[in-house]
Amino acid sequence: MARQATASEAFPGLPKYADQDYWEQRYQADMASPEGSTEWYMGWNVLKNHLFIGGLLGSWGLEPPGHVLELGCGHASLVPGLVEAGFAALAADFSPTAVNAAAAISRVGPREFSTFDVRMLPLRSGAFDAVIDKGCFDALKPEDSSKMLSEACRVLGPGGRFLCVSNNEVLVRSRARKLQGWRQAAGTPVQIPDIDDEIYLHCFVREADDRTLAHEIVMFVPWAREVADIMLYISEGGETLIIGSAAARRDLSYPL
Ligand SMILES: C[S@@+](CC[C@H](N)C(=O)[O-])C[C@H]1O[C@@H](n2cnc3c(N)ncnc32)[C@H](O)[C@@H]1O
Repeated sequence: MARQATASEAFPGLPKYADQDYWEQRYQADMASPEGSTEWYMGWNVLKNHLFIGGLLGSWGLEPPGHVLELGCGHASLVPGLVEAGFAALAADFSPTAVNAAAAISRVGPREFSTFDVRMLPLRSGAFDAVIDKGCFDALKPEDSSKMLSEACRVLGPGGRFLCVSNNEVLVRSRARKLQGWRQAAGTPVQIPDIDDEIYLHCFVREADDRTLAHEIVMFVPWAREVADIMLYISEGGETLIIGSAAARRDLSYPL
């Protein structure tokens, strides 16, 4: 049977939102244009009213202080607003041009901006109280969005929230619900009112389980050639502790 063409093959004029080159060129063009940056869906000044306690998310809203990671920040990052609201925040995007531009116009320091690929975050498991995505899920291919969701879940600590602002009501929910380790917050997604599009706010809440540790093992023992080589590591406050061998891992039944 003939292979079905992908959307970009069938419609070659469509933007390739999943490609790093596409975004890099787009942001370079934005920087050179007098109109400057594009902001997707809404800016911080509108979004903040829906995120904090009493907003659309009710009791699931964000409350400072806490560590927040923004995925696919572009050059219209939410991070300056989050920092001013009392959070410790980090913005990530795989376009160096966007990250540098966001850092350059930011009212907060450049340390808050990093060039990371959201499909494989070089960040410690359980390190964040919230992960925010505005428009990043919407730009990803299905297989990449599953990787991104899995990374978002991994870096959240127990009780942490994944907040996703998306033009897609069904896909975010159905892909995120397949992941173990978090649950959809009751009453979400909610449509964000008073904007010129159908934009939804999704919220998933991290539960405590042992997937975090399994990820740490996989991520921090890249030299292991066979299972017997694997030692158990727990990263705690930046310090690495060896707590046992592969035999101990079996005894503790960690899901590798
Ligand atoms: C629709 S734009 C949203 C930008 C910004 N959040 C906003 O609301 O204006 C999607 C962003 O996701 C970024 N992105 C797409 N795939 C990515 C990936 N694999 N890793 C990191 N960033 C990615 C793009 O560079 C782009 O900045």
